[in-house]
Amino acid sequence: MVAVSVVLIFCVISFAECYWKPTPLTNWTWQIMGTLDTSKNVVMYDIDLWDTPNNTITALKNAGKKVIYYFRNGESWLDIRRLDILGPIMAARLDLAKAKRCDGVEPDNVDVYTQINGGGFRVTYQDQIIYNTWLAREAHARDLSVGLKNDLDQVPDLVSHFDWAINEQCFVYNECDTLQPFIRANKAVFNCEYATHRNCLKAVQSKMSSIQATLALDGKNMKMCNAQGQLVPF
Ligand SMILES: *[C@@H]1O[C@H](CO)[C@@H](O)[C@H](O)[C@H]1NC(C)=O
Ligand SMILES: *[C@@H]1O[C@H](CO)[C@@H](O)[C@H](O)[C@H]1NC(C)=O
Repeated sequence: MVAVSVVLIFCVISFAECYWKPTPLTNWTWQIMGTLDTSKNVVMYDIDLWDTPNNTITALKNAGKKVIYYFRNGESWLDIRRLDILGPIMAARLDLAKAKRCDGVEPDNVDVYTQINGGGFRVTYQDQIIYNTWLAREAHARDLSVGLKNDLDQVPDLVSHFDWAINEQCFVYNECDTLQPFIRANKAVFNCEYATHRNCLKAVQSKMSSIQATLALDGKNMKMCNAQGQLVPF
């Protein structure tokens, strides 16, 4: 407690950025369905806050875990160009993450510019950059760490704004190298494969925090790449 208070006072006095900045190979688990398995021996828990009781979060925090709030980032039909509408909704989610003592957030759907979505409007590359950097700024204003979810084509433009990256199936799609700018900036890259993971050696050599999970992300049958590049249950 004393250490935490000292850090907080330091942040207030120095205006330092005190949000969590995970370094490469930080281990993690990802579960957004079912009853949360709190027994994992990992540093980061990426979870859905809506469904997680407050006392579960408190227990994770007391056990020294970093807790990340996964949230669906407005559904794809929401027009990210309309920050006047979307801004307050997202701000409220960030406030909730803060109130629940999360260390950071993982906003989903931050690459809608790659699709023409159900609303029929066209979001450009630049619209997406504006929205994503806005999200990162708002998270940091609340001392929340923020991760870039997928959105690989924008990594060069966004790596300096986000604290870590999270990616689904870069090995299946053969696009993991796109994430290396994060590693070079000493920022963690969290990778999740849904099919049988055959690339643990490559993952560890490229310093990615790589796991295998069910597509439902229900906490069942979790595996991770260990330091020796082997796929092991955890
Ligand atoms: C995860 O990382 C932490 C910190 O380095 C370590 O203590 C723990 O043993 C690791 N967990 C697993 C399952 O390897
Ligand atoms: C959980 O914590 C949040 C944030 O502090 C609070 O708004 C909410 O009322 C709490 N829920 C319950 C059921 O206590």
